[in-house]
Parts: sequence; C-alpha cells; structure tokens
Amino acid sequence: MKTFHSLIFFTFFLLSTFTASAQNGEKVYKMYCTGCHGADLKGTPAGTSLLVENLKYGNEPADISKVISNGIPNTTMIKWGSALPTHEIGELTDYILGIRKKQPTQEKSEEILTFSTEDYTLKVEKLVTEGLVFPWGIEFVDEKRALISGNKGELYWVVDGKLDPKRVTGIPFIYGTDLVGGMMDLALDPNYAENGWIYFAYSHNPKNTADKTSPAMTKLVRGKIKDYQWVEQETLFEAPDSILVSGGTRWGSRLLFDTDGFLYFTTGDMQQSIAEGLNPQLPSRAEGKIFRIYPDGSIPKDNPYYGQEGTLQGIYAVGTRNVQGLAQHPITGKIYFTDHGPKGGDEVNLLKNGGNYGWPVITYGVNYNDSPITSQRSKEGMEQPLTYYDPSIAICAAEFIYGNMFPKWTNNLLITALKDQEIRRLVIEGDKVLSQEVIIKGIGRVRDVKIGPDGAMYVLTNSPDALLRVNPMK
Ligand code: HEC
Repeated sequence: MKTFHSLIFFTFFLLSTFTASAQNGEKVYKMYCTGCHGADLKGTPAGTSLLVENLKYGNEPADISKVISNGIPNTTMIKWGSALPTHEIGELTDYILGIRKKQPTQEKSEEILTFSTEDYTLKVEKLVTEGLVFPWGIEFVDEKRALISGNKGELYWVVDGKLDPKRVTGIPFIYGTDLVGGMMDLALDPNYAENGWIYFAYSHNPKNTADKTSPAMTKLVRGKIKDYQWVEQETLFEAPDSILVSGGTRWGSRLLFDTDGFLYFTTGDMQQSIAEGLNPQLPSRAEGKIFRIYPDGSIPKDNPYYGQEGTLQGIYAVGTRNVQGLAQHPITGKIYFTDHGPKGGDEVNLLKNGGNYGWPVITYGVNYNDSPITSQRSKEGMEQPLTYYDPSIAICAAEFIYGNMFPKWTNNLLITALKDQEIRRLVIEGDKVLSQEVIIKGIGRVRDVKIGPDGAMYVLTNSPDALLRVNPMK
C-alpha cells in the first residue's frame, strides 16, 4: 500500500515537474523564439518550422538542446547557451518536444501517382517529402542506403527509403546557394566499399565569404564520412585565383565515373557575356568545360591539353554552357551529356575527347529576351548536338536505364527537365536519337534521376523538394 502511494506520488511529482518545466519553457519561448519560429512553432520567413517530421539537426532531446545551446554557424540561429541558463535550455527543449508530441502525427503522404506510357504504367511513390532542402544528386552506397547532396551544403543519408534525421557535419563552407551554385552533384569512388571516398562539387570562393561579388569558381573535393563527420578532405580541382569569376550564376555541375575509373565533372559558363571574352572556348579558363581526371586529381596523359602550358590540363571538352547531366551507355561505353542552353537551345550531346561544343560561338538558342546570341548554328571544328529543345525544357540530369525492372527500356537514356517538370526517355543509337517519349510530367523540377540497386528509378525534385521512386505496375 505504501509503495503504491509513493508510486502515485512519484508519478504525480514527475508529471508536475515536467509540466512546470514545459510551462516555464513556454514563457522563455514566447520571449525569445516566436519572432523567428512563430508562436505556433510552425516557422516564419525568418526561421524554420520546429514541427516538421524530421528536424534538420535531429529529433532527440539531446539534439534539440544542443542546437539551442550552440546555435547554427552562419545562420541567424545564435548560441542561446551564452544568453540563457542551462535549465532554461532544458525547459525550452521540453516545451518544443511537448508541442511536437501533441501534433497529430503528420500523415505520411501515401499518395501514389500513376502515368501511362507506351510500354508500362508507371507507379510514382513519394518516399521523402519532408526534411530535404534543395536536393541535387543521389548515389546508392549499397542495397539499402543512399547519399543525397543538398544544395545548401548538406549530405543526407536515406536508409530503406527513409530520411535519416541525423546530419553530416564538418562540410566546408558552401557559397552561392542563392545563385543556383551551392553544393551540386556527388559521386562515389568505384571502390567506395573499400576506401569510402565520396566526391562532390560546390561553389567556392577562396575568402569563404557569402559576398556574391567575391571571385569564385566550381571546386571539386573528395572526403569520407565517419560517424556523420565529413573527414580527410582533399582538393581535386580548384581554379587559380587569377581566373576566378565574380558574380557568376551558372556553375554546372554533374559528376560521373566511367567504367575505366576516370572521373568527369562539369563547370558552368558563369554567365559571362560574350563581350567579356569567349571563355568557354579557352583552355586557359575554367568556365564552360567538361573535365576528366583520375580519382586523386592527377591528369590522364591522353587528355587533350596534357603537358600544354597555360592550359587547365584537366579539361576534356570545351564550349559548353551549363552541363548538369552526364551518363555512360552501359554497352557501348560512350558518354552523353545534356547542356542547359539559352532559350530554345537545350542540348543532348555525345562526349568526345577534345570536343568543342561551340558555346557561345554557335547555338540554336537566343537570349531570354529573344535577342540573338549569334547567327551561327554550326561551324567547322565544332560539334553538333544529337538533338536540341526549342522551346527549352530546362534540361538537367541524364541516366541510362539498366537492370531488370524496365526490360523494354534497357539502354534507353533518361533526361530530366526543370521548367517542364518531366522525365523523357530517349532511344539512342550512336549519335542519333531514334525516338523519345515524356514518361512522367508535373511532379516538380526534376533535378536528378538514378537507377537504384533494385532497378527502380530514384528521382530528386525541387519545388517541392522530394525523393520519389518509380517502378512499373504489375
Ligand atoms: C533570429 C531568428 C531566430 C531566433 C530568434 C531563433 N531561431 Fe532557432 N533557428 C533559426 C534559423 C534560421 C534556424 C535554421 C537554421 C538552419 O536551417 O541551418 C533555426 C533552427 C533552430 C532549431 C533547429 C531546427 C531543426 O530543424 O533542427 C531549433 C531547435 C531552434 N532553432 C530553436 C530555437 C529556440 C528554442 C529559440 C529561442 C531561444 C530560437 N530558435 C530562436 C532562427 C532563429
């Protein structure tokens, strides 16, 4: 009887201290936090929602206390630990957790879309619709786990189709995230299982400032993730200070390992006007190029500018505008790329060693205000695209279909579109596009598509930010 009483008392004591703590937390919250996170915790333009299913910095009490206490570098979320006593940080955490618990559990969107195509009815499943911010590239590390790069400078783990709430820390300062630059594509070393190397491209200025006029260029690094920490970073490509560009807005960048183990990566033309020089044409400049290097950053001897002074010897092809799609044909080994062109000038191209793709000397496109860029559509010594899109679709990623899930589409090329929010399937033979079909439409700006280990298509979209899985219905 006595134990029973004290149990009741103890429970009551616990409840009342928790309530008291949360009540005090509410007071402190209203005093300091509503301005940015809102009175209802659902966020304001100045601060994120604290009620999303997966908090960016973790859902556990310790994660939340830590963020409040330590703040978030380079954001307006300051170190509250310097302003508030420890017990108030704990009370704030209890208050936030209490409100999160009261929320009706956010219905995971079970909505499944279907699309009819020539050969299959496709089922599109929304795997992750919350927690990803501007996802850019996806790579599977094994059967169950994938890594996604986030444009604002995040590496996200997805496990069994669900977003891991824990974040990778220690990623370098990423610049230019509101200029479309930011963190772009990632790639895994062909021997990732043994060596753990992860590669990514990002917008970088040597001063590590958010100032958009600071001279900058796309940079390529590799590193490893150990226990959610980005470690052992090595620089593989960084343009010398003398050729950096101020205020550029087209940075590329897509990465590809081919089956011979070469690493390809792309840079954008940085929106340099022709008046400023034909930089995408110049092997001394980094703008508007496709590079090919060894995984450690060294230069293959058969690169077109190998050993030539005054050139960037990693350059493999010149004269591109903003390549965001690179894919290798599973049988022929040929590499194809998309180039995000001007109005009416999106292209699909076949990559050649030393190829000149003509930008901005030749193009099928015009300026966004319809003024001409050049009257020339073709020129001796410059490559023609396999196909181009007029009107533009805002072409982005590229991936060949392989595996068992879409047998009728084996070796077809998928390309994605931002503006037209679609995925197209191209039947390609050598340098000819034999036919094409829009297979998915209206699902958001399609930033990346990859065939996963199960043979399904894994799709990243922006606006809304999501990870989707596509497979044929039975
Ligand atoms: C001046 C604006 C501002 C104020 C005031 C502010 N925050 Fe924040 N807070 C932010 C921003 C912006 C972020 C998101 C940063 C990011 O995404 O990297 C953030 C993030 C957070 C996160 C992490 C959210 C997540 O998804 O993991 C928590 C928790 C948090 N704030 C709690 C608080 C608390 C508690 C207070 C009051 C003591 C507070 N904030 C006051 C701007 C603010």
